Amino acid sequence: MKYTFALPLAASLAAAQMQVMSLAPQATGTGPMIHTVTVGGMKAVSTGMAPSLAFFPESITANVGDMVEFVFMQKNHTVTQSTFAEPCKAMAGGQDSGFMPNPEGKAGVTWNMTVATTDPTWWYCKQGTHCGVGMVFAVNAATTGDKTMSVFKNNAINKNSTKQADLKPAAIQQVNPAAAAAPSTVTVAAGAANAAATGAGATATVVAGQGTDGAGQACGCQCLCGVNSFPQEAAVNNFGGFAGMLP
Ligand SMILES: *[C@@H]1O[C@H](CO)[C@@H](O)[C@H](O)[C@H]1NC(C)=O
Ligand SMILES: *[C@@H]1O[C@H](CO)[C@@H](O)[C@H](O)[C@H]1NC(C)=O
Ligand SMILES: *[C@@H]1O[C@H](CO)[C@@H](O)[C@H](O)[C@H]1NC(C)=O
Repeated sequence: MKYTFALPLAASLAAAQMQVMSLAPQATGTGPMIHTVTVGGMKAVSTGMAPSLAFFPESITANVGDMVEFVFMQKNHTVTQSTFAEPCKAMAGGQDSGFMPNPEGKAGVTWNMTVATTDPTWWYCKQGTHCGVGMVFAVNAATTGDKTMSVFKNNAINKNSTKQADLKPAAIQQVNPAAAAAPSTVTVAAGAANAAATGAGATATVVAGQGTDGAGQACGCQCLCGVNSFPQEAAVNNFGGFAGMLP
């Protein structure tokens, strides 16, 4: 019983593999090659199934004259040409599949693109916020240097994130070990709406602050104040972590 499902699946996987293998000889020699790229679909997550906001594979190498066959799965995506500099913005005069809804994941919803150059071309899905979570694709992206697929994808996420604040790394503050006896004075530089805790041995107070970091980005913080309320091992000189403090 158990295998009545598994066997047909294995057979179709084998068939799929055969199909890929039968294309392989074209790669080495004469004719143009067909590259199949899946767009979207569903993926297993801990709570069940969720839409996959990705191209697979997300980067290919192709020759002029090769064809890329985009196979659209759930739910409703596009393949839209952009530029390396603006990953989530349609390139003027670029190609665009338009929306290819396939809510039930039926076979045969495809869009074909013929590769016209060995220069890199950059693509994304223009549906909603998909690009901002990294739904991007590239043909002939460099594999080293500063214009790789991963840099392109990071740019898409950084430039089109739906997060409210564009968080950038700020310099890590240095703690002077000689300051061990410093009083637990807290200064909140900007937006100090509820800043309050001062004085040696103050009882623990949560203080929230908002300001801007060195790059001009909005940032926020919350401090649990009052060094005397921390265990000795986790307070002064142990800023930044509670390593080894799990009971
Ligand atoms: C697909 O998405 C586009 C853009 O959000 C929308 O206009 C269109 O109605 C959608 N199509 C279907 C069938 O959901
Ligand atoms: C794309 O190419 C494949 C393979 O040649 C073909 O089966 C399919 O019909 C084409 N799709 C479109 C939309 O032209
Ligand atoms: C993504 O960012 C570009 C600018 O880089 C902007 O033109 C575009 O509207 C943004 N798209 C979304 C969906 O936020």
